[in-house]
Amino acid sequence: MINGERLTERPLRWGMVGGGRTGQVGYKHRTGAQRDGTYKLVCGAFDLDAERGRDFGVNLGVEANRCYADYKELIAKEAAREDGVQVVSIATPNFSHYEITKACLEAGIHVICEKPLFFTVAECEEIGKLADQKGLIVGVTYGFTGHPLVRQMAAMVAKGLLGDIRIVDLQYTHGFNAGDDVGASEALKWRTNPKTAGPTFVLGDIGTHLYYLSEIVLPHLKIEKLLCDRKAFIPSRAPLEDHATVLMHYDNGARGRLWVSSVNAGNMGSQRYRFVGSKASVEWSDSHPDQLLYDVQGEPNRILHHGMPYLEEESLAIDRMGALHTEGLGDSWSNIYLWIAQAIDAKKRGDEGFLKTHHYPGIKAGTEGVRWLENCVRSADAGSAWVDFA
Ligand code: NAI
Repeated sequence: MINGERLTERPLRWGMVGGGRTGQVGYKHRTGAQRDGTYKLVCGAFDLDAERGRDFGVNLGVEANRCYADYKELIAKEAAREDGVQVVSIATPNFSHYEITKACLEAGIHVICEKPLFFTVAECEEIGKLADQKGLIVGVTYGFTGHPLVRQMAAMVAKGLLGDIRIVDLQYTHGFNAGDDVGASEALKWRTNPKTAGPTFVLGDIGTHLYYLSEIVLPHLKIEKLLCDRKAFIPSRAPLEDHATVLMHYDNGARGRLWVSSVNAGNMGSQRYRFVGSKASVEWSDSHPDQLLYDVQGEPNRILHHGMPYLEEESLAIDRMGALHTEGLGDSWSNIYLWIAQAIDAKKRGDEGFLKTHHYPGIKAGTEGVRWLENCVRSADAGSAWVDFA
């Protein structure tokens, strides 16, 4: 159980680029980072509007002279300080992730970046090499994957409780973009423009969460080929999609289907995962994150609750609230930030042994997400053809 006790030399001197007052995801980063006192927010370039960003930063408790106009000023001024920033989180629209990450790494600063990490696998690989050369960590914030019941599913699969995996059923949908884009928010405008969003809309925006979580639960399975069908129901969003279906064949013969959509009118279900094996299935959804369905063929269905002693050790080890009390998205983000802090701490100590077995969403997770997107786009653009996963 995690109870806030010191697990690293702390706090890391932490800064943010983006995630300002009007940003959607910024508070999730601050919730995650500041929970255990593992990070201390010392600086930021929080907003495209420099004045609003400064005002916001001061309100968060950052010194006014460390609220910068942009990331370039942040890097230059922090590098000149003895107590300069050690790790920066990037919560800006997708197109700026690559240039800001690169600039931070070149200045010797660890990075925690939003998904989808970059536009291409080539960019991910280049940044991976740069991070290696510099001895720095790149973390990626796949929000719900720090939840104890995600670890529980992974542990149950690893123990063979499900038998051989046959079916992978993934869904992340909502209806917030069911209407047209007249008067759309800034957040929707950049998401539906390939110059700012990259080669996908909903596949990258929400589909990568599904894909990474499935990788955690099924690390032994690899996709052999996939077929992606994508469509913009609101035509102005084309060539990007507001809806997509992906079929996947895995190397053990398993079959997967994945549905992402932001035009599922009225739907508030968000994320749902079902992993079906030859003996049993598990199902988890962020609508009821405290509960894991465990359906054994021929037996009454069970609901497993987070924090209960009958769960696997790996799950209980990362539980924060304890059974009976709600464990949710904020707790998951805190775990992700804690794991990335432990990775940074190990990197600083040169403890490569720790890093080999330490689980956290890093550059590999970010790269594999982008690789999956590239394969989806290749298939969709070939007329929804089956493509070998490359
Ligand atoms: P948003 O448009 O709501 O907010 C972006 C924020 O960044 C704003 O405060 C804006 O002023 C600021 N900004 C933009 N460019 C900047 C720059 N060059 N320098 C400094 N500040 C800048 O966007 P949203 O929804 O917060 O998404 C940001 C990123 O987070 C995206 O990559 C998105 O995919 C990801 N995201 C991830 C989520 C998760 O669960 N991990 C959830 C929501 C978004």
